[in-house]
Amino acid sequence: MKSREILVTNALPYANGPIHLGHMLENIQTDIWVRAMRMAGHEVHYVCADDAHGTSIMLRAEKEGITPQALIAGVLEQHRRDLSEFGVAHDWYSTTDSESNRALTYRIWKALVAGGHTESKPVKQLYDPVKDMFLPDRFIKGECPNCHSKDQYGDSCEVCGKTYNPTDLIEPYSVVSGAKPVEKESTHFFVKLADFDAMLQAWLKEREREGGLQSEVVNKLQEWFADGLRSWDVSRDAPYFGFEIPDQPGKFFYVWVDAPIGYLSSFRDYCAAWNARRPDTPLRFEDFVERDDAERMGTEMVHFIGKDIIYFHTLFWPAMLHGARLRTPTAVHVHGFMTVDGAKMSKSRGTFINARTYLDHLDPDYLRYYLATLLGPTLADLDLDLKAFEDRVNSHVVGKWVNIASRTAGFVHKFFGGKLADALPPEEARRYASAAERLSACAAMFEARDYAAATRLIVEVADEANGYVAEKAPWLLAKDESRRAELHVVCTLALNYFRLLAIYLAPIIPTMAGRVAGGLLGTTLCDFRDADAPLLGREIQPFTTRIDRIDPKKIEAMIEASKESLKPAEAGPVVAGAAAAAGSTVTSAATSKSSPSDPRPAGDGTKAGADSAASIISIDDFAKLDLRIGKVLACEFVDGSDKLLRFELDAGELGTRQIFSGIRAAYDDPPKLVGRNVVFIANLAPRKMRFGVSEGMILSAGSGGADLHLLDADPGATPGMPVK
Ligand code: MSP
Ligand code: ZN
Repeated sequence: MKSREILVTNALPYANGPIHLGHMLENIQTDIWVRAMRMAGHEVHYVCADDAHGTSIMLRAEKEGITPQALIAGVLEQHRRDLSEFGVAHDWYSTTDSESNRALTYRIWKALVAGGHTESKPVKQLYDPVKDMFLPDRFIKGECPNCHSKDQYGDSCEVCGKTYNPTDLIEPYSVVSGAKPVEKESTHFFVKLADFDAMLQAWLKEREREGGLQSEVVNKLQEWFADGLRSWDVSRDAPYFGFEIPDQPGKFFYVWVDAPIGYLSSFRDYCAAWNARRPDTPLRFEDFVERDDAERMGTEMVHFIGKDIIYFHTLFWPAMLHGARLRTPTAVHVHGFMTVDGAKMSKSRGTFINARTYLDHLDPDYLRYYLATLLGPTLADLDLDLKAFEDRVNSHVVGKWVNIASRTAGFVHKFFGGKLADALPPEEARRYASAAERLSACAAMFEARDYAAATRLIVEVADEANGYVAEKAPWLLAKDESRRAELHVVCTLALNYFRLLAIYLAPIIPTMAGRVAGGLLGTTLCDFRDADAPLLGREIQPFTTRIDRIDPKKIEAMIEASKESLKPAEAGPVVAGAAAAAGSTVTSAATSKSSPSDPRPAGDGTKAGADSAASIISIDDFAKLDLRIGKVLACEFVDGSDKLLRFELDAGELGTRQIFSGIRAAYDDPPKLVGRNVVFIANLAPRKMRFGVSEGMILSAGSGGADLHLLDADPGATPGMPVK
């Protein structure tokens, strides 16, 4: 078979928050595919980047008092680290806020303008008169016009599910300033998608036929064509963090214009780095990207994405590419969403798990394996059932696979000088050949993204191997000196079963498989064809690599650490929903629902501890804090929040204060707190929250969650007294 040349991408994570396990699902799915295609002999280039532009990132940087560039640079480092520790082997990981991305975006835009595929027209949009900016739908909240729930987003109601326009909200307010938005008109630029109607329909049909698009996806898209494609609004007014539109001062490209172009600019940067290192075997950007070159070379471009961003990748993106005479995608593979224990990932339940939190507790290959057992070529959601995760990894990876080696390798060292037998008798040779033959079907399963089928087959062969070991009982053979040759054969075949399984497990659990196979057999696992023949007559190393079972306590600890708390040190970057960052109205079944109005103080996403403790402040800094004693007049649960308690404090000369405090998990009988003297910061800027205005912050000790303890004052302290 001729080897194929494939440019592979997965969706660019937003630079406004940490990588979480939902992102990992996609990165793992893609990484397994890339590794498997390479092991099947194809040339694959795998690139990604951070999606760095948009309103959310701009506002968050402002809130943290840093430039957006500084914000995204820090996030980029975290993202790269998290992904690489999960074994996701991007060849290049860039950012969309780069000069090469700007150049490519301008080139594509200019081609669209020259082709007559753009237009401009006035658009009425809600505007924040205090903050002086247009408001994306997700930055407007108000009462749902349908069910009258309070504090619903401008695009849809989370309570009744209705979608509407932000202008339909009752008593709308800007989540940026709290001001009442006004309607204002401005000129926007559009891409005339109708120009691409026929091209897109043909592309969809052809891709579906060739296996580059799932039928489910193509069917979903049909309704868009029914009443003709509407023009796509691609501009946003200043202030906006993004690329300014050439010759249109104050107008910026909407983040979704330059985001997918980031796939190509990241690849272009990779090509440049490659060519600097290997000028003799150049990697030509044009061969993968320019329409004519790509056609001539037969290269492929394959995207992996989640189901919430289908339109961007199957309508807008191919239209832009085609309009600029660039190649269109060969495939857009869409996956479903991750749920945890059967429900949407939730911060309060501790099931919104960041990649870093996972890595702090568990081995990344465990998650890779578990997800592989669920992943198929459909859009179905996948459930991280924590119990099934534990059981399956322990049973399959440790119990079935590692066990084969740990039950046999020792005898090879004890009796045979660490060497495998030179040959297998016919019965064993036949067994090996048949297992290798069966497992060779995995390559096609990986290619078809049916990893669930591949892992089922792997488990079947592992069962067969364990059956063989159990039947031959090498531990009994070892007791009989006259049966040494037999023992040698049994261990040699068992270890070859083990290696065979390692070869097909390698795309899924690359680190474990590589470590074990390398340590024991002294081989790398880079090619499925290595499975054709068994390893014979070779010296092996002692089997020392430990692969532990999952300890359920570690899962519990991970969930505990993921529970949202309000203490500043733990507040990571605000993770806005996909649509929030994009400022779009496209459905986001995704991610979290936090917003700029969240009560959490913005943190920098780094851990508490050394760094924060090390920074020294002056006495003047301390003097800026107006700490006071407050006597609790009332304390109660807050409807609609599982984190907050509402306090009313007698603050003496300062009057009474309402303060929301995120300590609900630590105090389950709030009225009991009435009468206590607490310490609070009196000169913190008041903060408008969903539930009302919070006028200060109450201090407590502890690490968060249920481990939070209010401070007490000795008798004699009275309401309003300063604390120094
Ligand atoms: N920045 C855009 C993508 C631009 S691509 C040119 C974006 N970013 S995202 O961070 O919100 O999501 C990145 C990818 O992760 C998307 O494909 C999205 O579907 C996927 N996922 C986000 N949450 C997910 C789950 N809970 N489960 C599975 N995939 C999830 O969209
Ligand atoms: Zn509603």
